[in-house]
Amino acid sequence: MSDLPWRQLRDESIERLRAAGIDDPEQEVRWIIERASGHSPSEQVGVLDDPVTEREVRFVDQMVLRRAEGEPLQYVLGRWGFRTLDLLVDPRVLIPRPETEVVAGLAIDALPTGGVLLDLGTGSGAIALSVAAERWPDVEVWATDTSSEALAVARANLAGLGRRAGVVRLVEGDWYAALPDELHGQVAVIVSNPPYVAATDSLPPEVAEWEPSTALVSGPTGLEAIELILAGAVDWLAPGGTLVVEIGETQGAAVLALAQSAGFTNSRIEPDLAGRDRALVATHP
Ligand SMILES: C[S@@+](CC[C@H](N)C(=O)[O-])C[C@H]1O[C@@H](n2cnc3c(N)ncnc32)[C@H](O)[C@@H]1O
Repeated sequence: MSDLPWRQLRDESIERLRAAGIDDPEQEVRWIIERASGHSPSEQVGVLDDPVTEREVRFVDQMVLRRAEGEPLQYVLGRWGFRTLDLLVDPRVLIPRPETEVVAGLAIDALPTGGVLLDLGTGSGAIALSVAAERWPDVEVWATDTSSEALAVARANLAGLGRRAGVVRLVEGDWYAALPDELHGQVAVIVSNPPYVAATDSLPPEVAEWEPSTALVSGPTGLEAIELILAGAVDWLAPGGTLVVEIGETQGAAVLALAQSAGFTNSRIEPDLAGRDRALVATHP
């Protein structure tokens, strides 16, 4: 046990993050203390005068140092909430975003009972595993990624689903390439949050320096991955099936035109919680 009470460690940590220019150091330190001690933010008020163990001091210090050096809080904590799940996250995967929770919800709403869902570019597994968790046991989920490192994270998250993991298959390959032939024409919902940033777009330093660029940047226009996903979708979807693709807020009109060229006659753009264009929803013709 150290001589330090939580109150002192908390206050010193807040000051270190404030000095490093972190916007809301009080909130971030609450999350850091929760990670180190297991005490939720509301429980922390009751333990402020309790002594901190040496191990907890070291753990908090390391997390505060990493955060002060600019690493995203989600990687520092090593986990982040997405819909009903608490996912492991590290620099091998994109940090799951709140707008993607909306995209996952659109896919879940479109999925008939017992349907097959395909998540292209699964990363941490955020979308695929949410569908499995929320629609188990009446669903079959396939998730693909080209990054073996991302799939290792998705596999660890899948293990956290317990018996609900049994409905999920993770496969490594380029978009549709690793899928079994017999899924052709059988998929009820294809969902994807693909890379959709253009190579020339500037990203906030915290994103550009820490998150995998292969998860973010698509190519010169930002539309390349969406175009490939659209081009394959009609072959894999069952009649009446739905394609849901996350898009950048300025890409709506271009993506609707691409969907039309790919053979989708019934398409719309859905907003995220901030009212920005965020997802293409297209029905198999
Ligand atoms: C924007 S991230 C989305 C991750 C996760 N689905 C989410 O929403 O948090 C895009 C993912 O697509 C994967 N990816 C990039 N190119 C790919 C390709 N050609 N085929 C399959 N996956 C790809 C990346 O490795 C990354 O995990």
